[in-house]
Amino acid sequence: MLIPDRWYAVLESREVSKGKPLGVRRLGASLVFWRDHNGQLSVMTDRCPHRSSQLSLGRVVNGCIQCPFHGFEFAGDGTCQLVPANGRAAKIPKILQCEVYPSQEAYGFIWVWYGETREAYPPIPWFVDLEGFDCATIRKAWDVDLTRAVEGLLDVSHLPFVHSRTIGRDQLTLVNGPYTTLEDDILKVWVTNQPDEGLPAVKPSQLPPADSEPTIEFRFPNLWRLRISDRVRAVNVIAPVDEGQCVIYLQSYLKLPLPPVLTRLMARISNVFNRYVLSEDYPVIRSQTPKVADLDIGERYIPADRPIALYLQHRRDLIENANALPRTAQTLL
Ligand code: FES
Ligand SMILES: [Fe+2]
Repeated sequence: MLIPDRWYAVLESREVSKGKPLGVRRLGASLVFWRDHNGQLSVMTDRCPHRSSQLSLGRVVNGCIQCPFHGFEFAGDGTCQLVPANGRAAKIPKILQCEVYPSQEAYGFIWVWYGETREAYPPIPWFVDLEGFDCATIRKAWDVDLTRAVEGLLDVSHLPFVHSRTIGRDQLTLVNGPYTTLEDDILKVWVTNQPDEGLPAVKPSQLPPADSEPTIEFRFPNLWRLRISDRVRAVNVIAPVDEGQCVIYLQSYLKLPLPPVLTRLMARISNVFNRYVLSEDYPVIRSQTPKVADLDIGERYIPADRPIALYLQHRRDLIENANALPRTAQTLL
């Protein structure tokens, strides 16, 4: 189950080109993403209201998406503009309406609103500390639920084991903290790791977070960023596909004293490494049962798991609070 009434980053903007509809599964639904010849984006249910063929198999004509079956044309707002068999002069029945999802483009991604439509929407969530950085992005499809992928990214004690040949080779098994905060749908984690030299781990309250930047920042519902250094950040956008499936967009953000083109090249190179690191996580995370993470599924947490427990608790609260709200309109999904 997804947290409703939120913006989800689901695709990179560059994945949808002008005049070429793209049909993909996202947010548990078959969606068609298409642009008219001005580049204006529209996101719809990938199903023609006439006789259910996939609109994504059609093409863009006259600023509309044309169904491949009988040539009905639909504008970006979902209204039918032409029924060829009835003729251009005929009145178009209102019932021929495609289901449209509210969408926006920002920060290189396409954002789709999952939930009830509204008069006004909240702003798109993003990370404020990425200004001035250049980035490169790659994507990886995972047979893993969004919840398990997020847990893996909030897991601060697996590095010496899962990543023993890469980012965990220093064998810093002891976890100091983590000091964790949750405010306004933003989960922040301060953590350090060190070799186990027989001393107890530093307690969360002893970590000096106050004005320092958090090591990990997670923005509900699907954005994660890691602070590697002043000049290096990693961002993962976890796009929900179906229950048990997601696509991870891996981004390297660099701020180097180099021309942007070279910085982006460096970011592309570091993505190759990041993708390898992610491939180390995959078999372990895919093996977890049940597929969808939640509290009360019999998992026994240790202090290092505090960010995971907080994520699951807040996710549950948001889902339950949304269900408690009166429903004035039909939800989209
Ligand atoms: S099924 Fe789309 S026009 Fe007939
Ligand atoms: Fe990992």
